[in-house]
Amino acid sequence: MIPEELYVQIHKNMPIICVDVILKTEDNGVLMIKRDREPLLGKWGFIGGRINRGEKLEQAAQRKLHEELGLSLDNLKLIKSGYETIFEGDPFGHGEGTHSINTCYLAEVSNEELAKIQLDQNHSGYKIFHDVEDNWHSYLKEALKDSGIIKPKFIPVCEPTIGEKELEYVTDAVKSGWVSSAGKYITKFEEGFAAYCNQKHGIACSNGTTALHLAVEALGIGKGDEVIVPTFTMAASANAVIYAGAKPVFVDSELDTWNMDISKIEAKITPNTKAIMIVHTYGHPIDMDRVNEIANKHNLFVIEDAAEAHGAEYKGRKIGSLSDVACFSFYGNKIMTTGEGGMVVTNHDEVAERAKKLRNHFFGTPRFLHQEIGYNHRMTNIQAALGLAQLEKLDILAEARRKNAQLYNSLLSEVPGLTLPPEKEWAKNVYWMYGLLVQPEFGMTMPELCKSLLDRGIDSRTFFIGMHKQPCYQHGNAGIEGEFPGSDELESKGFYLPSSSHLTNEQIQRIAQAIKDIYNANRYSK
Ligand SMILES: Cc1ncc(COP(=O)(O)O)c(C=O)c1O
Repeated sequence: MIPEELYVQIHKNMPIICVDVILKTEDNGVLMIKRDREPLLGKWGFIGGRINRGEKLEQAAQRKLHEELGLSLDNLKLIKSGYETIFEGDPFGHGEGTHSINTCYLAEVSNEELAKIQLDQNHSGYKIFHDVEDNWHSYLKEALKDSGIIKPKFIPVCEPTIGEKELEYVTDAVKSGWVSSAGKYITKFEEGFAAYCNQKHGIACSNGTTALHLAVEALGIGKGDEVIVPTFTMAASANAVIYAGAKPVFVDSELDTWNMDISKIEAKITPNTKAIMIVHTYGHPIDMDRVNEIANKHNLFVIEDAAEAHGAEYKGRKIGSLSDVACFSFYGNKIMTTGEGGMVVTNHDEVAERAKKLRNHFFGTPRFLHQEIGYNHRMTNIQAALGLAQLEKLDILAEARRKNAQLYNSLLSEVPGLTLPPEKEWAKNVYWMYGLLVQPEFGMTMPELCKSLLDRGIDSRTFFIGMHKQPCYQHGNAGIEGEFPGSDELESKGFYLPSSSHLTNEQIQRIAQAIKDIYNANRYSK
């Protein structure tokens, strides 16, 4: 029952509390009735209307069924409840700008029951609709989706945006016969990507993890060395250090930017520290001036793990150009993709030369003489063809992510208990993934919200689990000492919503509405 307090409050401002009944027929049609009388002349609608004071919503639904259709159905199922809705159009004919608390019930009617319908003096006919998805108001569509009559289309958390150009270049690469790691697309992609980052050298490789591995080893970091790494990251950052035989030492992250807490770096520096690896988390740059200042003071290299930040900017400068060496990933969910793929960019000639050799088994002169142990971390010409087409529209892809974030922000800023993603005045965040933190005021935990979104066909992902908690780093191979409250909080509250560059405004509106609906339904059910 609607609490008295809420009922009084609504009635003070708004004339109607609405309860609707949707009747589903045996052949999956949806029954709507035609009203004759003003103000609802000729309108097809669900059975709906006021509830009486003290009446339970379900009782009202049953009463309306009886009054308007002569049916007595007690198998009503609640499918949507507690909606504070301001209708711009007027699906129910209550008058422009009507505010309602709407609750929808669903009943399945057999053909036998259908035959019993007797319309009252206000209704002249009924019709079974099979095309509700195309014709009806979004609220009703949502209710029908919740009821399972209409299945909402699944919105995945991320998909690549691939067009004709990609097909053209990839086809050309395949047809040329240059399908392995030599070919014109490799060269064009490396040169083009390095130029995009304002760097001299680009070294394409098999994925973002191998890019990091090459970067660490190309800087000469190995056994006995330590590298500062944020604990709040993807395991690849730390693993790359371990592959090189060195030790990642974890630093906590901050709630302000979701990046490594720069104020905690110096406490973790030892005589063995050789580099600081930073991550531009979820597309938001870290404050590079502060990082570089610490690195200069302690004579350390800086490695940018820019796997998530293609096109992002720090004080007007491109991410990837702000350190000794930067690494990108082109995995399928990244802002641009090569399927699997990665790139090292640097201005240092020797680092680039070493990275190239390490990428390809350290082939020497003569060719089959190897001075060091290298790897096969190569990218194929086919992947580079895909990459080149993506690079040509990288600014468009990154801008689309920013537009997504602006729309999400405008739709979600009023929802209590949601912390929106950061963007510092000195940063251009590319919102690789649109993340949110779920605070206690939301009334549900982050995993509960993710589960409810999935029930509505909306995919999401929880944030990283801090590296200090990983079983694989508990064996002395990593610096896990100390507390990591920032990372723990991000992990327990954070998740991200669908973020593909080609997400439509309608999809974002549906996702934001679903979050508001979940919030309201949870609030009223308490
Ligand atoms: C921060 C970070 N670093 C490194 C990587 C590794 O990239 P890849 O999956 O291409 O190996 C990822 C990939 O998701 C990442 O998010």
